[in-house]
Amino acid sequence: MRKIVIAGNWKMFKTQAETAEFLQGFLPQLEDTPEGREIILCVPFTDLAVLGQNLHGSRVRVGAQNVHWAESGAYTGEISAAMLTEINVRYVIIGHSERREYFGETNETVNQRLRAAQAAGLTPILCVGESKQQRDAGDTEQVIFAQLKQGLAGVDQNNLIIAYEPIWAIGTGETCACEEANRVIGLIRGKLHNADVPIQYGGSVKPENVDEIMAQPEIDGALVGGASLEPESFARLVNFK
Ligand code: PGA
Repeated sequence: MRKIVIAGNWKMFKTQAETAEFLQGFLPQLEDTPEGREIILCVPFTDLAVLGQNLHGSRVRVGAQNVHWAESGAYTGEISAAMLTEINVRYVIIGHSERREYFGETNETVNQRLRAAQAAGLTPILCVGESKQQRDAGDTEQVIFAQLKQGLAGVDQNNLIIAYEPIWAIGTGETCACEEANRVIGLIRGKLHNADVPIQYGGSVKPENVDEIMAQPEIDGALVGGASLEPESFARLVNFK
C-alpha cells in the first residue's frame, strides 16, 4: 500500500515567532484529517526545534530542507544528519530545483546527500523535474530519468519519498495539468525497484486544485511551497477531499 504524504516546504520563510503562530492556527484544523495521511513541515533550520517543541503530540512530522553528506568537517554553512536527528527531524528535502539552480547542486551531490540522510535514519524527499526549456525541447523524460538514475544510485528505496516538481510550475501559479503530472509520475514509478515509494506532485498546489490533483491514481501526495505558509490553506490541503 502506498502512503499519502502531504509536505510543506517553507523555503526561507518564517521566524521562530511566526512558526509558533502558524502552529496555533494550524494544529486545531487537523482534528478531522483522515487517518493514514502523513503530514510533514520542512522548515528553515532555526525553526526546526521550535516546531518540535510546539507539536504537542500532534501527527505533524518535522523535516529539514537540506543535509550535508559528511559526518562533520570544514563545510561552512552546511548541516549534518546527526545535527538534525538530534532534534527529532525525520525527513529532509534533497535536490530541490532551487538548490540545483542557485547553489550548484548536481545529481552527484544529491546522491551523496541522499545516502548520508538514509544512513542517519532520515527519510529523504528527492525532488526531480524539468525546466520549461527542457520540456519545450522534448527532453522531459530524459532529464528526469537521468536525475533518478544518478540520484538514486546506492539509495534504499524502502526509505524514500520522491517529488515530481516541474520547475516551470513552481511558484508561478501555473500548475502542470493533472493528467500530465499523473503520466510523468507513472513513468517515474516505472523506473523504481520499489513501486510503493510515495511520489508527490509539487508546483503551485493550492486549495483550488488539490482535490483534482489528489484524485489522480499515480499521485500519492503533494510538496507545497506558497500554500503551506498559511494555516488555513495548508489545512485545506492536508484535508483534501
Ligand atoms: P510552490 O512551491 O507550491 O510555491 O509552487 C513548490 C516547491 O517549491 O516545492
